[in-house]
Amino acid sequence: MKHLSFIGTGKMASAIAKGICLNGVLTSDQIIGTAPDESRNDFHKLTDIPVSENNSDAMNSRMVVLAFKPQMAEQICRSLQPMVKDQYFVSICAGITLENLQEWLGSDKVTRTMPNTPLCVSKGAVAYCSADGVNNEDFDLLTKYFECSGILAQVAEEDINTITALSGSGPAYVFEMIDTFAQSAKESGLTDEVALAFTIQTFLGASQMLSDKLGSPEELRNAVTSPNGTTYAALENFKKNNLRQVLRDGFQAAKDRGDELSRGIK
Ligand SMILES: NC(=O)c1ccc[n+]([C@@H]2O[C@H](COP(=O)([O-])OP(=O)(O)OC[C@H]3O[C@@H](n4cnc5c(N)ncnc54)[C@H](OP(=O)(O)O)[C@@H]3O)[C@@H](O)[C@H]2O)c1
Repeated sequence: MKHLSFIGTGKMASAIAKGICLNGVLTSDQIIGTAPDESRNDFHKLTDIPVSENNSDAMNSRMVVLAFKPQMAEQICRSLQPMVKDQYFVSICAGITLENLQEWLGSDKVTRTMPNTPLCVSKGAVAYCSADGVNNEDFDLLTKYFECSGILAQVAEEDINTITALSGSGPAYVFEMIDTFAQSAKESGLTDEVALAFTIQTFLGASQMLSDKLGSPEELRNAVTSPNGTTYAALENFKKNNLRQVLRDGFQAAKDRGDELSRGIK
């Protein structure tokens, strides 16, 4: 019997598994991953975790992470139902509710999570909510496997789609911004390498200042902004172009899509 299994071995399963192995919480031979096609070989190369094409091989585990696309969730969960005993299921599928999971799996030992890809570098953010069948031992396992790679918080189920729009999709927003600044610096004459390295370091450094509680975002922003200076010129331009509204609208679009997935709209 394995400690942990992943049904679906794509990007997110790889990020979670990598975090668990890197932090020495489990060894690769205590885990198994299953997927029908190519992704399982990439997962194996990245983590050294054994893989199989049969989802039934993942059902002989204490905890089973459901890591496939939401659109596949009903079909795969229903196919697992005859093999359900007392496994603890942890879903990472965006928009799939606890009620759906309980009905499709025929089990109430189910937790719904929203993780994010920075788990693979131990800077993840995972929110979760659970059905009634989840006990303290299950919670201990959830904490052990996810907190080693980042922060973990319990939230009300109605807040999960907000978390999805914030930290689940959020790394992509940051990559988009970093790419835009690095491209602008390149167009102004910097080499690719310097432009990207300085943009990354700026995001890392600014985030670290906030994480170290050196001030609120507003205070730290004001400390960089001299009247009529360079930063002021950029911030005035952001204001004129409604940057905050653009970011808010993007966030809302992600949340609305999560709500649609929860209502079964594919
Ligand atoms: N990516 C993110 O940042 C992120 C963040 C939070 C939550 N999520 C959630 O994580 C889940 C996975 O997303 P992802 O980005 O990791 O997607 P992905 O890279 O496309 O991975 C999906 C995985 O599901 C597998 N799969 C397809 N059919 C299957 C079947 N019948 N049985 C078992 N496995 C099957 C795929 O295998 P093959 O490719 O081999 O066919 C692949 O390994 C989604 O529900 C998403 O909502 C993702």
